[in-house]
Amino acid sequence: MPTTTPRLAPSTVPDPMEAPPLRWGILGPGGIANTFAAAVRAGTRGEVVAVGSRSAERAGEFARRHGAARSHGSYEALVADDGVDAVYVATPHSEHHEHALLALSAGKPVLVEKAFARSLAETEVVLEAARAAGLFAGEAMWSRYLPQYDVVRRTVEAGTIGELVLVQADHGQLLWPDGPQRLADPALAGGSLLDLGVYPIAFADHLLGALGDVAARGSLSDQGVDVTVGITGTVGSTLARLTCTMAAATPCRALVAGTTGRLELTGPGYFYEAATSVRLVAPDGTVLDTMEPEHPDHGFRYEIAEAARAIAEGRLEPAPVPWEATRRVMAVMDEVRRQVGVVYPGE
Ligand SMILES: NC(=O)c1ccc[n+]([C@@H]2O[C@H](COP(=O)([O-])OP(=O)(O)OC[C@H]3O[C@@H](n4cnc5c(N)ncnc54)[C@H](OP(=O)(O)O)[C@@H]3O)[C@@H](O)[C@H]2O)c1
Repeated sequence: MPTTTPRLAPSTVPDPMEAPPLRWGILGPGGIANTFAAAVRAGTRGEVVAVGSRSAERAGEFARRHGAARSHGSYEALVADDGVDAVYVATPHSEHHEHALLALSAGKPVLVEKAFARSLAETEVVLEAARAAGLFAGEAMWSRYLPQYDVVRRTVEAGTIGELVLVQADHGQLLWPDGPQRLADPALAGGSLLDLGVYPIAFADHLLGALGDVAARGSLSDQGVDVTVGITGTVGSTLARLTCTMAAATPCRALVAGTTGRLELTGPGYFYEAATSVRLVAPDGTVLDTMEPEHPDHGFRYEIAEAARAIAEGRLEPAPVPWEATRRVMAVMDEVRRQVGVVYPGE
């Protein structure tokens, strides 16, 4: 009997250019909002029609840079803009809860940057408001919308690598102490966990669901935010081993190993981006199949397209990141913070 070589499962992620057009308003024109606006324009049929900032000048500059028709000198004015179909919240973590609620209370669906909020408690308030209003709310954990993540999960579900034994992911960037002030500041819910650690946690969640037995150790800055964190958790007999740091650049790789093979996420940069390759590797090290990225640019377009499809179809949750997944990730981060000793002001 001829045996067939195990293969990666094909991606089922739809072409972002086939998603319905949507008119976006951007709330908080900072660093990542630029990436989002470029992806809307280059990678979808949507458009950024308006931007809101605490400063009319900053809003105006951003609108000019990205060709948005209107700029608003307050977030209240942005969410009241009748020409905006959906709001992308791109402010610091500490503000997500308030700004998502602001958009929902104005009747606007929201896509909220990761981490979705500071805590599970804040997350629940936002999701309840979305449910009550019948409006879409989605976590902009862009990696979970990528074809690579779909391929990895489907390959695991097909049993191609056998019983899962280990999920491993690391995310370290040199962003502290000389990087953005946002990361150093407890008042803005800084630290490595919510900014960087959320990726390894989301990767494990994507494959395993709810992590049990979460154990974490970490180091804190003098200001009391986490600098480096190591996390383990289990689901049945599968172990997840996750790390993040904002004090060093690490390889930023991920893998999932099973009894009959493993999947490696490798690439020029981070394991969670559109330029990542996926390799299916046999226990003896033979590479059996590889997925090379077809569209390495504008990786945000997958989350943007899914939000547009969900809103057009009347769905309240993004399919790749249902609310339960956002809740699970936030619950893990709450537990990690409890063990490591990070408390944000006002909690
Ligand atoms: N998906 C990704 O790859 C990725 C990458 C980086 C960051 N992010 C996420 O995106 C979010 C924003 O990060 P960023 O790096 O873009 O931050 P940033 O460059 O500091 O921009 C944040 C923006 O939020 C607004 N803002 C509102 N309240 C603020 C406050 N109290 N303090 C400071 N700024 C405030 C500011 O705009 P105005 O003052 O003009 O209104 C500012 O430009 C975070 O949730 C982060 O985790 C995601």
